Amino acid sequence: MTAQLIDGNAIAQKVRDEVKEKVAKRIAVGKSQPGLATVLVGERVDSATYVSMKQKACADLGMTSYHHPVPADITQADLEKLIKELNADPKVHGILVQLPLPSHLDEERVLQLISIEKDVDGFSPINLGRLAQKGREPLFVPCTPYGCIYLLKEAGVTIKGANAVVLGRSNIVGMPAALLLVKEDATVTVVHSRTKDIPAVLRQADIVIAAIGRAEMVRGDWLKPGAAVIDVGINGIPKLDAEGKQMISAKTGKPMQRLVGDVNFEEAKEVAGFITPVPGGVGPMTIAMLMNNTFRAAEIQEP
Ligand code: GUN
Repeated sequence: MTAQLIDGNAIAQKVRDEVKEKVAKRIAVGKSQPGLATVLVGERVDSATYVSMKQKACADLGMTSYHHPVPADITQADLEKLIKELNADPKVHGILVQLPLPSHLDEERVLQLISIEKDVDGFSPINLGRLAQKGREPLFVPCTPYGCIYLLKEAGVTIKGANAVVLGRSNIVGMPAALLLVKEDATVTVVHSRTKDIPAVLRQADIVIAAIGRAEMVRGDWLKPGAAVIDVGINGIPKLDAEGKQMISAKTGKPMQRLVGDVNFEEAKEVAGFITPVPGGVGPMTIAMLMNNTFRAAEIQEP
């Protein structure tokens, strides 16, 4: 292995420790406890897992979470009513609506209702618009892209002037990551499903942020030697035994899976200069940055 491993667990823990200390200091001087409202629509197992991790992180760091599970068939009007109530609730400093929403709901209208001071996910049009504009700053930066940039900086990677390639143009990761990299003075290319000759584009990249949701898509020989590779992908693939046969869980009787990123780690680690593992890379950073944003939201609303 030639690449230096970027340890997301350790870096996220450092961020969490810092937030925990700031929360304790805030409470010690008599200010309110930061509060995060989580809204979970329906019963998607992955979304429910992420939300419960966010609630647990709040508890670990001395913040309060207010959980609002609502049925998958909630109407647009009722969901909007809930958001308005949370906007008006002074105990709630941050509002997180776990995405994706069921298809009958208008995500854009829901996100734009969240008051900008409580938009700890940074998905409201105002926060994203400011991220896209020169000389303007959002109140909150979306947590996963923020975590990616934080990892690069912690690893000592120079972003200014670097050629950066972002794979994927999602609203949650790819687009805000590209905007953040531009703010950091990188020269940015966004690669997507219609891009021609993706390997050739990637070979120019000093920094790669892979967020395209395709298991092990990026091969080692697509990378420029020494590149910094941030892998946002979390993809389940069949877990095989030594003979290449699908493993079956003794407990559930179901086929077992293992998690891989969007980058072929075994190949990439021999070429890259820096690389994040999956799991244990970007994943823990998302929650750490959410905690940081929630603390900031409390400071903004009740300085
Ligand atoms: N779904 C996947 N990632 C995220 C995230 O960062 N925030 C929210 N609200 N939903 C998500």
